[in-house]
Amino acid sequence: MSRALPEGFVLGSATASYQVEGAAREDGRGPSIWDTFSHTPGRVWNGDTGDVACDHYHRFDQDLDLMAELGLQAYRFSVAWPRIQPTGRGEANTAGLDFYDRLVDGLLERGIRPVSTLYHWDLPQALEDAGGWPARDTASAFADYAAIMGKRLGDRVSTWTTLNEPWCSAYLGYASGAHAPGRTEHAAALAAVHHLNLGHGLALQALRSEVSGDPDYSVTLNFHVLRGEDDAVRQIDGLANRVFLQPMLEGGYPTDVIEDTASVTDWSFVRDGDAEAIHQPIDVLGVNYYSTTAVRLWDGRSERLTADGHKGAAASPWPGAERVEFPPQPGPYTEMGWNIEPAGLTELLLDLHRRYPDLPLMITENGAAFADEVVPDASQPGALAVHDEKRVAYVRDHVGAVLDAVDAGADVRGYFVWSLLDNFEWGYGYSKRFGIVRVDYETLERIPKDSALWFADLGRTRRLD
Ligand code: FCB
Repeated sequence: MSRALPEGFVLGSATASYQVEGAAREDGRGPSIWDTFSHTPGRVWNGDTGDVACDHYHRFDQDLDLMAELGLQAYRFSVAWPRIQPTGRGEANTAGLDFYDRLVDGLLERGIRPVSTLYHWDLPQALEDAGGWPARDTASAFADYAAIMGKRLGDRVSTWTTLNEPWCSAYLGYASGAHAPGRTEHAAALAAVHHLNLGHGLALQALRSEVSGDPDYSVTLNFHVLRGEDDAVRQIDGLANRVFLQPMLEGGYPTDVIEDTASVTDWSFVRDGDAEAIHQPIDVLGVNYYSTTAVRLWDGRSERLTADGHKGAAASPWPGAERVEFPPQPGPYTEMGWNIEPAGLTELLLDLHRRYPDLPLMITENGAAFADEVVPDASQPGALAVHDEKRVAYVRDHVGAVLDAVDAGADVRGYFVWSLLDNFEWGYGYSKRFGIVRVDYETLERIPKDSALWFADLGRTRRLD
């Protein structure tokens, strides 16, 4: 049965600065923790780095044309903080600001809405050297950077997102060490959680005081949709979801999370006034969803299962949760080993809607990595094609899952596919391809895959078949 997209429902695509831009040492950009991490042997598969990535920094005009050809209504990009402040503090670097200025103008000229994320994991290395997110000063530095961006682009950006997936920044960056900066200190990871939350609140205040337009304000979280036993679900829901949602949307930390992690930290990094600083109004909540997570209480004897979907590393990303294990789930799976379960997205949206009935939701990331094959394009001699039926099915089924949630009452405003381009997939380097557009990493040529053509059709017909 064919179904209409809701009126005003936005279709867009997403990327992130370090994953696509390249030009790592150009125009005054300082090093970020991902430059350091990816250049450290053994950290990223195949020794891949973001030095060149998709070279979007130089090819953005062509990429904008491509988005326009695909009829995308919005583009979610992130700003590389070290392009704006090479050491994370002080004077803004004009060349860095100019780049995002051109990007935003280029989007607007093509009728594409700019949705800007301030932090998608590329912390200036100098701030990490001063302690990183476990240090309180990083939150105020982040607010200063937000003010610079608000001042420069605040007349044109339509949505400002403070953080992308602070869960990953805190726990993969500082607990498991699977992501930059690669630290494995559980107490520091919880301090990072708090300072990311604080940075979010301070950045919203800074943006609101600088921005001259009337944008939406937002944050994007990666929710863990949990399957399993009650107490394991409660504990992981606390560490994964509620430790961000509650301070940002209600004020204050969940007491069970503080109790569960009492052996790791006493939370004395939370100061008077922080709860109010973090709890700032937002207009829309960004939801990233890929798969579900199974949990249960570990018996303490058998080998502890760790199939939580996050890249294996020296330590666990879950502070204080030693008694919980993560059993593998039934397939089918994507190339990331993530199980495909669109119903989890419907469930998540309805759950968020029940909890925060007045808060509009936006899918800011959803998509799939598969091993694509490039073949001659039968319809155009000399051209190449990628028939990525599995990705088409994944995106179709997840857009359908969003429509199911809308039918059941959830207020969902749009869907951004991850990603526009194949790109640097963090610890997996270039081995995992999420793009609806293929990138040939030798020639940097772009080839729209069948999923891109399908997505363009969805935008044209506004009907899901
Ligand atoms: C999310 C990240 C994004 C991308 C996808 C696959 O966790 O926000 O940058 O790597 O996963």
